[in-house]
Amino acid sequence: MDIRPASEADIEAICDLVNHFADQNLMLHRTPAQVRMALGDFLVAEEDGRVVGCGYLAYLGPDLVEIRSLAVDPSMQGKGVGGMLVERLVATARARGVKQVCALTLAPDFFTKLGFARVDRWSISPKIWSECVYCPKFHACDEIAVLRVLDDA
Ligand SMILES: CC(C)(COP(=O)(O)OP(=O)(O)OC[C@H]1O[C@@H](n2cnc3c(N)ncnc32)[C@H](O)[C@@H]1OP(=O)(O)O)[C@@H](O)C(=O)NCCC(=O)NCCS
Repeated sequence: MDIRPASEADIEAICDLVNHFADQNLMLHRTPAQVRMALGDFLVAEEDGRVVGCGYLAYLGPDLVEIRSLAVDPSMQGKGVGGMLVERLVATARARGVKQVCALTLAPDFFTKLGFARVDRWSISPKIWSECVYCPKFHACDEIAVLRVLDDA
């Protein structure tokens, strides 16, 4: 299993993975253009030459990043791939001096096992105003906000 920065050649596989779950209302759809714009902040998990996981960091402010489009191929779930992706994304945020990492998710228990705490979604308001306002589910959002505050260690 290799966790590595995404490249142009991964865009289609990332979209396929994310949109598979978006079709089940588990996350937001992403277009190739959207993935390309965030490509420098995307990581993928690769197994035997195949992209089996992905996720990226969206910068919401000097002290806050959000983990978005976190997805692991159904055939590879439960093997630690999602956890590895989150830890690598957190390490990237830490290396860039960011203090807080958040996510909006339907899998809060996955994140709390990784040191995130459930928080009121309005406590991460930059996220709400940058993306949620455009979401069709804005007025009936069922996602739970989670936040991990990074120490300096
Ligand atoms: C959520 C997801 C990324 C987890 O990836 P994964 O590779 O299966 O997770 P891991 O194997 O690293 O699991 C780590 C731990 O979290 C738990 N876990 C995994 N998915 C979970 C979920 N949906 N709810 C609660 N706990 C979960 C695992 O049981 C494991 O616990 P353990 O360490 O006690 O055994 C993956 O299930 C997925 O892609 N789901 C569909 C898309 C989605 O919901 N993405 C999150 C949007 S923010």
